[in-house]
Amino acid sequence: MPVKSELLYEGKAKRVYRTGDPDRYLVEFKDDATAFDGLKKGTIARKGEINARLSALFFQVLSRRGVPTHFIEQTGPRELLVRAVEIIPVEVVARNIAAGSLAKRLGLAEGTPLKRPVLEFYYKSDALHDPMINNYHIAALELATDTQIKEMESYAWKVNELLTEFLQPADLVLVDFKLEFGLFHGHVLLADEISPDTCRFWDGTSGEKLDKDRFRRDLGGVEDAYEEVLSRVEKLLQ
Ligand code: C5P
Repeated sequence: MPVKSELLYEGKAKRVYRTGDPDRYLVEFKDDATAFDGLKKGTIARKGEINARLSALFFQVLSRRGVPTHFIEQTGPRELLVRAVEIIPVEVVARNIAAGSLAKRLGLAEGTPLKRPVLEFYYKSDALHDPMINNYHIAALELATDTQIKEMESYAWKVNELLTEFLQPADLVLVDFKLEFGLFHGHVLLADEISPDTCRFWDGTSGEKLDKDRFRRDLGGVEDAYEEVLSRVEKLLQ
């Protein structure tokens, strides 16, 4: 069993530890939840376990279908063993339906299907509040090379296609999601997590929100929504 050594990083939802192997980290998922740039804080019961499990399952589905990820194995209820990537400080957001900040920015009614899916980049910087950036900014700030940007784009489209199709039989609509990538011995790998914290999932029949928007917007039923997504995804894989 890999052992946790030095705490390398503590974020809003996860802790990352070094292990005895310089190529591997342990990621521990917390129940803590934040929104609106850290202004809203709370906890979501069992979130750590649910997000660790869902991330493990999504990463397995994606890597089997050709998307390289940092995931190695799940080592505890809220703990994943991953490749020791260096995170590229660019968040990649893909969107199929207008919601959240896109609906606001472009004056679209939430729920409007986009004629073509949209990809956006954000600069991962707490001090700057994660501003939206484009390929030129990424190159100017040397956040990633042109090749790495192309790889992130192409993996993000592939994730969108694969997860949309995977979730459809569970009557879950993938509205939008955020990905992070990392470098591992020069290779771009999908990293971080894929969960109701980082994706918008809507029930395909009722349109009910089954993700962190329930926490952000005080809609109630937050824990139940996270549990519901996990139980539907587990059923798909049975
Ligand atoms: O807030 P916005 O509409 O831009 O979010 C788009 C998608 O990215 C949502 O699925 C949201 O959960 C995710 N996101 C995230 N982390 C952020 C910002 C957005 O996971 N810091």
